[in-house]
Amino acid sequence: MAVDVLLGLQWGDEGKGKIVDFLAPDYHIICRFQGGPNAGHTLKFEGKKHVLHTIPSGIFRADLINVIGNGVVIDPVTLSKELKEVKEAGVTIDGNLLVARKAHLILPTHRMLDQASEAHKGKSKIGSTLRGIGPTYMDKTGRNGLRVGDILSPDFQSKYEALKEKHLGLLQIYPQLDFNLEEEEEIWMRSLEDLRALPQVDGEYYINDALTAGKKILAEGAQGSMLDIDFGTYPYVTSSNTITAGACTGLGISPKQIGEVIGITKAYCTRVGSGPFPSELFDEDGRKLAEVGMEFGATTGRPRRCGWLDVPQLKYTIMLNGVTQLVMTKIDVLDGFEQIKIANAYEIGDQQTSNVPFDICEDGIDPVWKVYEGWNTSLEGIRSYSDLPVLTRNFIEDLENQLGVRFSMISTGPDRSKLITH
Ligand code: GDP
Ligand code: IMO
Ligand code: MG
Repeated sequence: MAVDVLLGLQWGDEGKGKIVDFLAPDYHIICRFQGGPNAGHTLKFEGKKHVLHTIPSGIFRADLINVIGNGVVIDPVTLSKELKEVKEAGVTIDGNLLVARKAHLILPTHRMLDQASEAHKGKSKIGSTLRGIGPTYMDKTGRNGLRVGDILSPDFQSKYEALKEKHLGLLQIYPQLDFNLEEEEEIWMRSLEDLRALPQVDGEYYINDALTAGKKILAEGAQGSMLDIDFGTYPYVTSSNTITAGACTGLGISPKQIGEVIGITKAYCTRVGSGPFPSELFDEDGRKLAEVGMEFGATTGRPRRCGWLDVPQLKYTIMLNGVTQLVMTKIDVLDGFEQIKIANAYEIGDQQTSNVPFDICEDGIDPVWKVYEGWNTSLEGIRSYSDLPVLTRNFIEDLENQLGVRFSMISTGPDRSKLITH
């Protein structure tokens, strides 16, 4: 058996939570492999909306195991809140949520460092979610971090204090923060109890044994490929590998074990936080996409920047991830547009390119637009691909030709049921 990987091909918020929730019954195990509470994955069913940050999006499906992999960074406080919310929604947590011992912990002082570093950057701030992600991954690669397995160790408290002291030393270089550490620490220590109550596993053995036993596994990405630490729009990225390769290091599986790679893109493009976005719109179309698409961050509530679909960007992330099937979400948001555009190349000075350039962070990239006639009708209630308006199918099939990969699913609304398989 192989591990299928599902991930975002843009700057996050492509609708990963919805698609994982839809696909989950086809799998035995759903795993998160990177990121942490910077993620906000929205699921909607039976008229209710649920937002998950750390818990995999298979949690609402019966008879499934959900694993928080070693590549994830965990804030016990967020996790504790999420556990409470899913329990209130009727989920029983009893052996169906496992945590990898090697996953790193986000301390309150990591959040302080995130806040201080962003404030210090001023205008060039990343637009971080301020969840402590960057500082926690820095401690991981700097070989200072605390891991989930450490919380059962008798000297956990002294390890915690040592790391906290180190952080307080680092914070000296920044102006004083408005952060009640004592209070935050108390909540953190209390929340740790909920994490302690979850079964810990050596994720790498657990997953490899499950594969040997013939279990079907889906790895759920967080963020999007353009936020990847290596290949995203650096430095305006997150601090983990969000691409398929991240599933290997974030779960402990070999590249040979990767099966399908399901890449998700919205029918347009959004980005929350700072950084380059070549196809961003500042006009009425952009405002309409934001309004109709209700583009506000699921974690921070911040408005998302909007633009048209960007083919060079998608080709780039399809290449990086080895995408075998595409999913298009939010196509319904385009229902009321007379004209729909996509960027199918970039103009940089007097050169045209269809590659994402190294210096994407510099100004001066002009998208070359391709214009489609809009279908200008509601897709509400359409259940099969052949019932889609011909103009909608033309749009999808033209993109398939340009991208070289088929769309296996088209999502027409936030609800679990609003999905057309193709
Ligand atoms: P994720 O981080 O990739 O899981 O995505 P988010 O949950 O942050 O953002 C996606 C948003 O779009 C959520 O509010 C979803 O409920 C919503 N959504 C997902 N699919 C569709 C769709 O096909 N149409 C519409 N209109 N909304 C969708
Ligand atoms: P999901 O999984 C959209 C963005 C932040 C910021 C940058 C760095 O819901 O798609 P960080 O907190 O990681 O240091 O922030 O990355 N970002 C996301 N944008 N969706 C996400 O997750 C994101 N996670 C981080 O806005 O620009
Ligand atoms: Mg999100």
